[in-house]
Amino acid sequence: MSDTDNRTRPASPPAQEGGHSPNGRKAPDHVAIIMDGNGRWAQRQGLPRLEGHRAGTDNLNRILEAMEKHGVRYVTLFAFSTENWSRPWEEVMGLMAILKSVVEREALNLHRKNVRLRYLGRTDRLSPDLWASIQWALELTRANTGLNLSVAFDYGGRDEIVQAIHRIVKDNIPPEQITEELFGRYLYTKDLPDPDLIIRTGGEQRLSGFLPWQSVYSEYYSSLVFWPDFDEAELDRVLLAYSHRERRFGSLYHEK
Ligand code: IPE
Ligand code: IPE
Ligand code: MG
Repeated sequence: MSDTDNRTRPASPPAQEGGHSPNGRKAPDHVAIIMDGNGRWAQRQGLPRLEGHRAGTDNLNRILEAMEKHGVRYVTLFAFSTENWSRPWEEVMGLMAILKSVVEREALNLHRKNVRLRYLGRTDRLSPDLWASIQWALELTRANTGLNLSVAFDYGGRDEIVQAIHRIVKDNIPPEQITEELFGRYLYTKDLPDPDLIIRTGGEQRLSGFLPWQSVYSEYYSSLVFWPDFDEAELDRVLLAYSHRERRFGSLYHEK
């Protein structure tokens, strides 16, 4: 079988699992989080929904530090979906303003911690000043070698796949060269390993468009805790549950 003949070749083996956390448990290398439940958290306390979104930015540093402590190298946060534009305009604008202020408040701090920031999602619908702030933060942290923090904003998995197809067609890639590996290089996540673990806070049992291509072998965990209340203790419970999962990738067992 030649190198270019992939008709009979089995799908390439998935990326290896992450290593072990400092406490010796099997730890994920890449954790992706669907940060859900901000609105219900606010409602429960009689506050406007936007207060829930604001509160949802306060635990960022705590969670990142805890992730590092557990040996996680990649953290991806779902902050705004392509479908979230359908919310009331004040909420959408409020979410945009919150992202801008978090970027401006946290970028230098993240840079000092050697965090590398990435943006996953569409950029053509952001206001020019929001995109300028994001670009500044991406540039600032580009050479950092510590934790890899990706923020999925105006992100939708189907949208990502359609955008990838557009660019593959524009690049005149012949069909026989289109492999899973090549396709992956056209996605926003081209520089990231697939997520080992996807956590959704707020108790829902769905992905809501998050990383459909990348999550085919991810472990999934639904936490009942609303995102603003998600803390180190709950993260620890989730990672303990992960450490007991047996990932087989379609095989009969997976060597540890
Ligand atoms: C998640 O919280 C944040 C975004 C989707 C932007 P929600 O706003 O969806 O909170 P709930 O699900 O209504 O509680
Ligand atoms: C998913 O939450 C998107 C983010 C957390 C950013 P949603 O609240 O938008 O999802 P649905 O509408 O409950 O599926
Ligand atoms: Mg929600």
